[in-house]
Amino acid sequence: MPELHRSPHRKLLTRRTLLLLLWTLIFLLILLHQSSLSTSPPPPPPPPRPIPNLRRVVFNLTEFGGVGDGITLNTAAFEKAVKAIRTRGGGQLNVDKGVWLTGPFNLTSFITLFLAENAVILGTDDENLWPLMPPLPSYGKGREHPGPRYGSLIHGQNLKDVVITGHNGTINGQGKKWWEKYQKKYLNHTRGPLVQLMWSRDIQIYDITLRDSPFWTLHPYDCQNVIIRNVTILAPLSNAPNTDGIDPDSCDNMVIEDCYISVGDDGVAIKSGWDQYGIAYARPSTNIVIRNLIVQSMISAGVSIGSEMSGGVSNITIENVLVWNSKRGIRIKTSAGRGGHVRQISYRNLTLNNVRVGIVIKTNYNEHPDEGYNPEALPVIENISFKGIYGQGVRIPVRIYGSQEIPVRNVTFQDMVVGITYKKKRIFQCSYLQGQAIGKIFPSPCEDLDLYDDGGKLIRKGISHNSTDVDYES
Ligand SMILES: *[C@@H]1O[C@H](CO)[C@@H](O)[C@H](O)[C@H]1NC(C)=O
Ligand SMILES: *[C@@H]1O[C@H](CO)[C@@H](O)[C@H](O)[C@H]1NC(C)=O
Ligand SMILES: *[C@@H]1O[C@H](CO)[C@@H](O)[C@H](O)[C@H]1NC(C)=O
Ligand SMILES: *[C@@H]1O[C@H](CO)[C@@H](O)[C@H](O)[C@H]1NC(C)=O
Ligand SMILES: *[C@@H]1O[C@H](CO)[C@@H](O)[C@H](O)[C@H]1NC(C)=O
Ligand SMILES: *[C@@H]1O[C@H](CO)[C@@H](O)[C@H](O)[C@H]1NC(C)=O
Ligand SMILES: *[C@@H]1O[C@H](CO)[C@@H](O)[C@H](O)[C@H]1NC(C)=O
Ligand SMILES: *[C@@H]1O[C@H](CO)[C@@H](O)[C@H](O)[C@H]1NC(C)=O
Ligand SMILES: *[C@@H]1O[C@H](CO)[C@@H](O)[C@H](O)[C@H]1NC(C)=O
Ligand SMILES: *[C@@H]1O[C@H](CO)[C@@H](O)[C@H](O)[C@H]1NC(C)=O
Repeated sequence: MPELHRSPHRKLLTRRTLLLLLWTLIFLLILLHQSSLSTSPPPPPPPPRPIPNLRRVVFNLTEFGGVGDGITLNTAAFEKAVKAIRTRGGGQLNVDKGVWLTGPFNLTSFITLFLAENAVILGTDDENLWPLMPPLPSYGKGREHPGPRYGSLIHGQNLKDVVITGHNGTINGQGKKWWEKYQKKYLNHTRGPLVQLMWSRDIQIYDITLRDSPFWTLHPYDCQNVIIRNVTILAPLSNAPNTDGIDPDSCDNMVIEDCYISVGDDGVAIKSGWDQYGIAYARPSTNIVIRNLIVQSMISAGVSIGSEMSGGVSNITIENVLVWNSKRGIRIKTSAGRGGHVRQISYRNLTLNNVRVGIVIKTNYNEHPDEGYNPEALPVIENISFKGIYGQGVRIPVRIYGSQEIPVRNVTFQDMVVGITYKKKRIFQCSYLQGQAIGKIFPSPCEDLDLYDDGGKLIRKGISHNSTDVDYES
């Protein structure tokens, strides 16, 4: 009897064993197939993208003794190449795939510096190889130390027609050592920017990556006709002090567009000199368009104006900008002593995602070059419009604090809907502010603003509080 019971069971067992064997076989076959795949030779790498000839004369850095091994210092090769281009009245310098270590060097007019795919110009972090230069006239001193300052890795003065481009090659400033030395107060001079062009015109910088600058990354100073397009700018979001992305400084006629910026200070900071030195130099930043940016700044703001703005900042359009996971969206910063003005500034279509404070105007940014500033030199802030402000996860959407001596005049808000994370009453914060809110504004604007409906009809006149109860706690 037990036999009878057992036999169908045994049949089942053998069937199971067969199935198991079959599955094992299939599994082994798959394994074999995969291992045969992995041992087959890898497909050949795609040929390098051919480098276009953008100038009549074209050189290759290797022709001047350049070695892209990441160890050999190429300063002399770059200098010789630039000299050859100067002698020929202009030309293109190709920097091939490889890591080209170098000390600072100067450009010349009518040059195109072309960085091939996977080409890296690597700045030496040995400060002894960085020449010192006089301070910028509109700053009066190095930004962080009196007296001279380090120059920039790639530098130019009084040039015309300069192009820096490539197939997304990189200029890397190896900032880490510099940031550490700065934090340990070891340096005796102001750190140098990565790329600085002074008193130059017709500049184009596009399709490249700039990273880990010792100080400000890209600094056009008193330049005209500057285009910066499709540039990636990277630095750590913290512990990379003063690594602003782009600092248009006393520049006229400039476009910054289609850039991705993620850095340790302001993404973009428009400037024009510092207190008495900037007032004397008297060169504004004006006629600037900034559009289509994605910016991240955990220490400062996506796009700033100031705090050095003593030569004036005017006629600026900032549009289609996304600021994400940042401390502030946009900021205008100034203080008594600056003089100058910030006016005709138009912000359109800003998206602020996960930003602590969205729109900031701060009039007591009390950082001065020396004791010689004139506290009665008061900046004028007026004619600023915000049209189309969106986003989510914003803690304080607006914080505009004018003061009795520096009131903020004629600020317009139109079409603003920002998702907030913080259910406190006063999150649209204003003082010494005059202006208007038109149409739908969320969260509700401060009482200081005149309210208009979409048709332009006045609903409620603003109540000027002129209060000084500055609530920085939230
Ligand atoms: C530059 O020169 C090197 C060495 O001669 C060569 O391998 C490379 O293809 C050249 N690159 C260009 C873009 O001409
Ligand atoms: C670049 O030129 C400027 C102005 O002539 C000069 O002060 C500086 O030392 C030069 N930099 C280098 C690295 O030669
Ligand atoms: C932006 O730069 C990248 C990398 O160099 C390039 O592939 C891309 O075509 C550029 N985009 C435009 C619109 O030129
Ligand atoms: C260019 O290179 C940077 C840094 O490697 C990278 O983040 C970026 O996505 C690249 N851009 C393009 C268009 O490939
Ligand atoms: C700064 O100056 C001090 C004192 O003169 C000196 O010991 C130090 O080496 C200097 N630092 C640099 C980076 O030159
Ligand atoms: C403002 O700047 C824009 C763009 O740079 C320019 O086209 C315009 O003419 C400027 N407006 C004034 C009033 O200067
Ligand atoms: C607004 O800006 C975003 C980028 O932040 C862009 O995707 C969108 O197209 C812009 N809208 C308009 C109407 O230009
Ligand atoms: C403010 O803008 C209006 C219109 O553009 C202009 O008439 C006025 O002069 C501006 N105010 C100042 C002081 O710039
Ligand atoms: C206020 O500023 C806007 C630009 O934002 C300008 O068009 C307008 O004329 C200014 N109003 C006054 C009274 O200056
Ligand atoms: C508030 O300040 C503005 C600008 O200075 C001024 O026009 C206004 O009269 C002041 N209002 C009060 C109530 O003090």
